[in-house]
Order: sequence, then C-alpha cells, then structure tokens
Amino acid sequence: MGSIKILRGNFIHAVGLGELEIYEGAWCVIENGRIREMLKSLPTALAEAPVVDTGPGFLIPAFSDIHVHAPHLPYAGVGFDEELIPWLKKYTFPLESRFADGKFAETAYREFIRRLWRDGTLHSCVFATLHRESTALLFDLFRQSGLSAYIGKVNMDRNGIPGLSETADQSIEETIELIGSYHRPDGRVRYVLTPRFVPSTSDRLMRALGDLAEKYRLPVQSHLDENRGEIALVREMYPAYRDYADVYDRFGLMPKGRTIMAHCVYLSEREIDLLSHKEVMVAHCAQSNADLASGIMPLRKYLDRGLRVGIGSDVGGAHVFSMQRHVVETVQASKLRWVGNEAEKPVSVAESFSLATRASGSFFGNTGSFAVGNQFDALVIDDSALECGLPLGLRERLERFLYTGDDRQISARYLCGEEIPEPFPKAT
Ligand code: GUN
Ligand code: FE
Repeated sequence: MGSIKILRGNFIHAVGLGELEIYEGAWCVIENGRIREMLKSLPTALAEAPVVDTGPGFLIPAFSDIHVHAPHLPYAGVGFDEELIPWLKKYTFPLESRFADGKFAETAYREFIRRLWRDGTLHSCVFATLHRESTALLFDLFRQSGLSAYIGKVNMDRNGIPGLSETADQSIEETIELIGSYHRPDGRVRYVLTPRFVPSTSDRLMRALGDLAEKYRLPVQSHLDENRGEIALVREMYPAYRDYADVYDRFGLMPKGRTIMAHCVYLSEREIDLLSHKEVMVAHCAQSNADLASGIMPLRKYLDRGLRVGIGSDVGGAHVFSMQRHVVETVQASKLRWVGNEAEKPVSVAESFSLATRASGSFFGNTGSFAVGNQFDALVIDDSALECGLPLGLRERLERFLYTGDDRQISARYLCGEEIPEPFPKAT
C-alpha cells in the first residue's frame, strides 16, 4: 500500500457533459496522489489513516484554463474599444516587448501565477512572449509554485513591431533550447509549441514547428477564426488554401489529440469536420469574444457535432482570471446566441461547469473529475458567507458559488493530493 490520505466532505463533479454527481458526507481515499475510492462510510481497515475533515462546505475539481497569456495581466481591461488586430498592435505587442526586461517580467509573472492560484486555476495552458530568458523564468516560477501548466515561448517572425520581432532561425533555435531545458513529458510543467497565429508566423517557421511537434510529440496551441478581419487577412495571405485551419494542418500544426485552438468563433463546416477528426480542443473564450467584439461562438452546435471544447480565459483579451466568471459568461453567451438561432439550445450551468473542469482538465491528463484513478486535484469551497437563510441543496449551492462567489470562498487547493500554498505571497 502506498501513502494514503483521506478527505471527508461533500463532493460535486461532472461525470459527463452537464451530468453532475454529488457525494454528500463522503470519504475520498487518496493513494499516492490519486483517487483510490469514494466511500459512503469508512471501513475499519482505514481507521488508522489520516483524515482531513473539510467541514460543511463542498469540494469541486480544480479549474483548468486552456488558453491564457501570462504577460497580459498589466493590461487586462485596457484597450477594449479596439478589435483584435488594432488591439494587438496598439496594446498587446508593446506590452509584450517589455518582457525583454527580466525585472519587469519577474514582477508580472509572479503576480500572474499568484492570480491563477488565488482563483483556483491549478492547470493552465499558457502563452509567454517571444523572449527566451523571460520564458525560461516563467518555467522556473511555475515549477516553484507547484501549479500545473503547459507553457510555450511565442513564435512570431512576421508582422510584429520594431520592439517585438525575431527571425525564423532565432525562433527555432530558442524553441529547441527551451524544449531541451524544460520539457518533461510526465512533469507538472510541460512545453507546448506556440505559433502566435498565421499572420505572425512565416511558412518556414510554421513548417519547422510542425517538424518539432512530430519529433518531440509535443502539443500545439494557437488562435483560429477569432475575428472577421483576421480571417479575411489569412484568406488574402493564403488564397490557395481551403481555409484558415487548412494552413495550420498543412504545416503539421494540428497533431491529433494534442492541439488547442483558441476562439474558433467562425469555423466553416469543413473546419468543424477537420477539427473533429484531429480531436482538436477548442478553447472557448466567451469573455474575450465579447471584450474584443469578436462574436459569439456557436457552442451548442460544436458540442452537437462532437467537437472537443474546453474553456479558456484568454486574459488579456479578457479582463478576469476567475473560471467561475468564465463558466457563467459561457452560459450567458450561449443564451444570447440562442435568440435568433433557436436550434442552438443554450448550455446549462452544469454543462458549462463540466467544460471548465472535466473537459478542460482532459488536456492535462487524468484530472478534471473525482473519477477513481484520477489525480486528486480539487478546490475546497467554504460558502458559509453566501448563506442567505434558505436551505439550499448542494447543486444549488454550487450554482450560487459560481454566480455570486469569488476567490474568498476557495479555502484550500489540492494537486495530486497535496495542498498547494500561496505562491510568492505579497508582504503585508
Ligand atoms: N491572436 C493573436 N495573438 C493574440 C492575442 O494575444 N490575443 C488574442 N485574443 N488573440 C490573438
Ligand atoms: Fe489568446
């Protein structure tokens, strides 16, 4: 028998899309960081094992954010009167150019990781910037924090600005160096290839990254079909290609089951079939799609067509980290989409919750639910401050927490059965 720990409490998780399972007053037996069993009563054989009683609140699986930009926090909420392309040029690229400065990067990246922790986002798939040194620093800081992440140096060798550009050779060389130094296929912090998007990445660079994806069996993350102007630009640049997704695919940047494409607001029928065949994870970024006036993604249609969909914050195309907010805004966007598209039934809170936990978690391995065999990755929710004098059931309390709660209700965070303390706490 390995090392055993038991957590007692109320557990809520999704066992399928929108299918919640609730254990009231149960014992979760964790062996070597993984869930061995969920019990209604404790057998005498386990009477000696250490038990943590989590009290009258409830536990949910840790949140996973499958699309977020680490350097963008200082500008989150700034510049949203622009659409994507002018916003990138006016705000995002100048901000990213600051990450050539190690001191600036360290302050911003510590705060970024602290915010993820605070909001219970224990797994994240992260864009850094094109800078090798500050990306290496981001890897080091994530390793120190104990949080789980995929991280990638951004590859962008065209259409940048004078302070934010690189050559294809430089980009390839530095990417290979970072993979060598930091990628551990079974580690908690792993490398993800990160071509920014087609307009930023030359054919030669895309081809080289496609080769690296195959050689090292690496995952890939990028942006696809986010904004109408962006799509028109890609069509102009690649008139001989079938569509935007075809460009990534032909350069080997959609490895099957290992790809995240963010936004996907305007997928064509052919692109839906391609992404479905390639088991691409679509990162739905509802808040960002509203903030940058990108549009409303047809979530129900994609789910009905069998696409893999998870939730990304897309900070700083969005303004908040909290996955609670993104769960709620996913529901809201889908309700707004439904008006005028009556065949696309709005997603429920339970469905949206399952996207942010179970579906998004699946990209990181065996996490996202309390299924036997999964890592014990969980948040303890103390919702006593949300009490309003009415006796609510656990499902209603979860909904109330998602809609009206915030990080103050997250009283503990666990990864692989171990509590994760606050990383880089601010001096008080
Ligand atoms: N497309 C290319 N780069 C970006 C970015 O930084 N944010 C968003 N939202 N879309 C992008
Ligand atoms: Fe993004």
